[in-house]
Amino acid sequence: MSDILYEGKSKIVCCGIDGNTLLIRYKDTATAFNGGKKEELSGKGKLNAEISNFLFAHLEKRGIKTHLVKVIDDTSAIVKKAEIVMVEVIVRNVAAGSFSKKYGVPEGASLKNVVVEFSYKSDELGDPMLAESHITALGLATSEELEEMARQALKINEMLIDIFAKARIRLVDFKLEFGRCGGEIILCDEISPDSCRLWDMDTDKKLDKDRFRRDLGDVLGGYREVLERLKGIRD
Ligand code: TMP
Ligand code: ASP
Repeated sequence: MSDILYEGKSKIVCCGIDGNTLLIRYKDTATAFNGGKKEELSGKGKLNAEISNFLFAHLEKRGIKTHLVKVIDDTSAIVKKAEIVMVEVIVRNVAAGSFSKKYGVPEGASLKNVVVEFSYKSDELGDPMLAESHITALGLATSEELEEMARQALKINEMLIDIFAKARIRLVDFKLEFGRCGGEIILCDEISPDSCRLWDMDTDKKLDKDRFRRDLGDVLGGYREVLERLKGIRD
């Protein structure tokens, strides 16, 4: 069960329990800027695994199809084998990060509508933003697949805004990855403070990977707070 098939920046993918599954193991490695900055943060894997498993179970219960099959231990889970669509789906509720930089808007500024954007999942190319016609021209996904990913991303956004709000956390933006599995598009990868911007609703304190990217200190303190607050919710 531990034959390594692929080692990514933050997860290891191993053989699963049968031909239709994989085992993923979360690592303690933190990376940013497409791998340009890298550090071991002991305990990060466990925190991200627990947060992501919690959120995936929450979404599944509300009708979103995900790759999660079974949690194995603190850092490992069995997932459905899917063909990952090489397009990252980014959803933005509030201006921040590359959006603020690119369009000259202060971080925290409100947006007149939710933004859904696509980027190429390629570290070598620096994850460039893609328009729909780029994606179809490159053969990364069909228009139907893109439409389905955007539709699911917006539904997921509503559900995540809601659950994070109960934890007094503002969901600023996040990145999703989808895969093809049995003729369907399913949610893959993870949803964690590595892949979301999460701000304390009352103080705007950052509780996500920006603490690492921007050297704000106590990175895992933020992640721990996210987990504790989510676990404290009754819904
Ligand atoms: P950005 O502002 O850098 O474009 O990032 C938007 C959101 O997507 C932010 O929550 C971080 C997340 N993200 C990833 O998880 N992986 C990536 O490779 C990128 C570019 C963004
Ligand atoms: N590009 C992403 C970031 O800066 C992910 C990564 O490089 O690991 O967060």
